[in-house]
Amino acid sequence: MKLLVTGGAGFIGSNFVRYVLGERPDWEVVNLDKLTYAGNLENLKDVEDHPRYRFVRGDIADRELMDHLFSEESFDAVANFAAESHVDRSILDPTPFLRTNVQGTQVLLEAARKYKVGRFLQVSTDEVYGSLGETGRFTEESPLLPNSPYAASKAAADLLCRAYHRTYGLPVVITRSSNNYGPYQLPEKLIPLMTLNALEGKPLPVYGKGENIRDWLYVEDNCRAIALVLQRGKDGEVYNIGGGQELRNIDVVERICELLACRIGRDEGELKALITFVEDRPGHDFRYALSCDKVRRLDWSPEVSFDLGLERTIDWYLKNWEWVGRVRSGEYKEYYERIYGPRGVT
Ligand code: NAD
Ligand code: DAU
Repeated sequence: MKLLVTGGAGFIGSNFVRYVLGERPDWEVVNLDKLTYAGNLENLKDVEDHPRYRFVRGDIADRELMDHLFSEESFDAVANFAAESHVDRSILDPTPFLRTNVQGTQVLLEAARKYKVGRFLQVSTDEVYGSLGETGRFTEESPLLPNSPYAASKAAADLLCRAYHRTYGLPVVITRSSNNYGPYQLPEKLIPLMTLNALEGKPLPVYGKGENIRDWLYVEDNCRAIALVLQRGKDGEVYNIGGGQELRNIDVVERICELLACRIGRDEGELKALITFVEDRPGHDFRYALSCDKVRRLDWSPEVSFDLGLERTIDWYLKNWEWVGRVRSGEYKEYYERIYGPRGVT
């Protein structure tokens, strides 16, 4: 199978490319990525010369380029990971989110329709459902009630996917996953940010009271689910993918301090003292939780517990300090100032 992976130089995309090259010996991967601030070819250094892998730099919203690429390559399938992915950035400026997540998805859908691609998988998110209270879970039938500009752009993309299936019969499937964590995640997201700040003795900026709840999914578990849905998912269907490991943010941050203290021989109380409660994220969703019966029927369940996944993640960051140094230079510093400066924790 010749598969186009978009956004393959980002966090989940790079883990997925590596997973597929390792686990699907008859799949060939073309990775198309614009290399925004979040795209990093260093994430794929170990597979860059793989005989079944090729990288193309480009923008999914570039109609001409997509037309050219699809006409040259005859893809059997597309997995669209490319997106602006960070909620806080979407609050600063929603514009690039609309261009990539909405317009870009439509351009890809159109190319897939024109060149009769056999499967189009849209990588979506549980954030399209909005926010839950203390109880309940989202099913695939839950209404779309997105709250952040990021979530609204992803919901719009999901609706376009639905429309391309219903109107043109494009064989679309959608995965909506909960919060991923693991190697190669940019330290703008909670787990790597807190890990690195704690290591360096910097404040750990917890939004609000730290009581918001996320359902954590180890990235490799998500990659395995996405590959399965690509192969066995039913046309036009949505599949929730959750880790089933709900935790309050404050508990995640404390667990990071405990594990890190153990790994580097420091006092955990000293690291926990770095926790600083800061001004909340506007429109902050309280809780996400997913019902995953559909994907479980495809013979999937998460394999990595939160403690094991967190240990692996922390060890990866400890071993990849040079990668960390490079991704935190330049643009990252500016972003950090803009988000955390007004919260008093630069
Ligand atoms: P990321 O920000 O780490 O990576 C995004 C990648 O997309 C980068 O390599 C970037 O260069 C590329 N990209 C951005 N705009 C592009 C464009 N116009 N054309 C081509 N490439 C472009 O994101 P991630 O965390 O790996 O998320 C991947 C996908 O999974 C996204 O669609 C996101 O919405 C979804 N998702 C993420 C999570 C999570 O917890 N990280 C959970 C659920 C769903
Ligand atoms: O649920 C899936 C989504 O998970 C994906 O669709 C998004 O692409 C991904 O970024 C992620 O969104 P979140 O907003 O949930 O992830 P983030 O890591 O930014 O934040 C997780 C929680 O931690 C959230 O409740 C906000 C809080 N937080 C985050 C940061 C960066 C803090 O308290 N302090 C922080 O500095």
